[in-house]
Amino acid sequence: MRKVVNLLLVLAQVWSVAQSTDQLMTSRGSWKQPSFSQKSKTKLQILYRLCLSKAPDFVYAVAKPSNQSLPFEFSLVVLEMNSGSFLVELERVDQASGWDTMITVDWFLYTGIALVHGKRVFWLPDLSETKTMNQEQSAIYCTNRGAELADIADKETYKLIYNHIAESHMYNTKIRSFVHAWLASKYNPQTRNVTQSNGEPGFNG
Ligand SMILES: *[C@@H]1O[C@H](CO)[C@@H](O)[C@H](O)[C@H]1NC(C)=O
Ligand SMILES: *[C@@H]1O[C@H](CO)[C@@H](O)[C@H](O)[C@H]1NC(C)=O
Repeated sequence: MRKVVNLLLVLAQVWSVAQSTDQLMTSRGSWKQPSFSQKSKTKLQILYRLCLSKAPDFVYAVAKPSNQSLPFEFSLVVLEMNSGSFLVELERVDQASGWDTMITVDWFLYTGIALVHGKRVFWLPDLSETKTMNQEQSAIYCTNRGAELADIADKETYKLIYNHIAESHMYNTKIRSFVHAWLASKYNPQTRNVTQSNGEPGFNG
């Protein structure tokens, strides 16, 4: 069984706006507009108000009434991503009826190859960029890109990340028989326990 601690790479949670090519291009914003719907569901086009040369690879968005003391609750599904806007389906979920109110849609997007799990975005740097680093250097590499080294809390996240690394670094092929990856967690070789950077137990493969 191969262990994550033997795998090394820089795994990052990226949140801030990035420009250069050795990082994920991310952006976030907020869109406010009067909204009216007779039914409990409607489609809505949201503008980024950004100049993007192409549609982003991922958009996440949530909608809420602009006046948060109002009881409206919405679920939102992103239907289509374009370069200037994205199309969503908005559904009122606190009751099955329409609405007439000002709504705010908060969104997050990225362009590049990354992995989304829960509310986290895991990103691997381009292999041509990576070089031998220790954990501290990897952490600095991430901080310089508005991100941080990731922790792995459970088996599901472990599998997703493991497979993502295997695929994007062509690990387990003739090209490469191993890849090292750094995590924020600490590994105790005696107990074989992993402790996440927040002190909670991590998943140790
Ligand atoms: C927000 O909604 C509440 C409840 O309807 C209302 O009392 C309040 O005046 C509203 N606030 C604003 C800023 O419109
Ligand atoms: C290792 O982790 C397990 C599960 O979190 C825990 O029950 C056990 O006490 C830990 N062992 C040591 C020696 O820290």
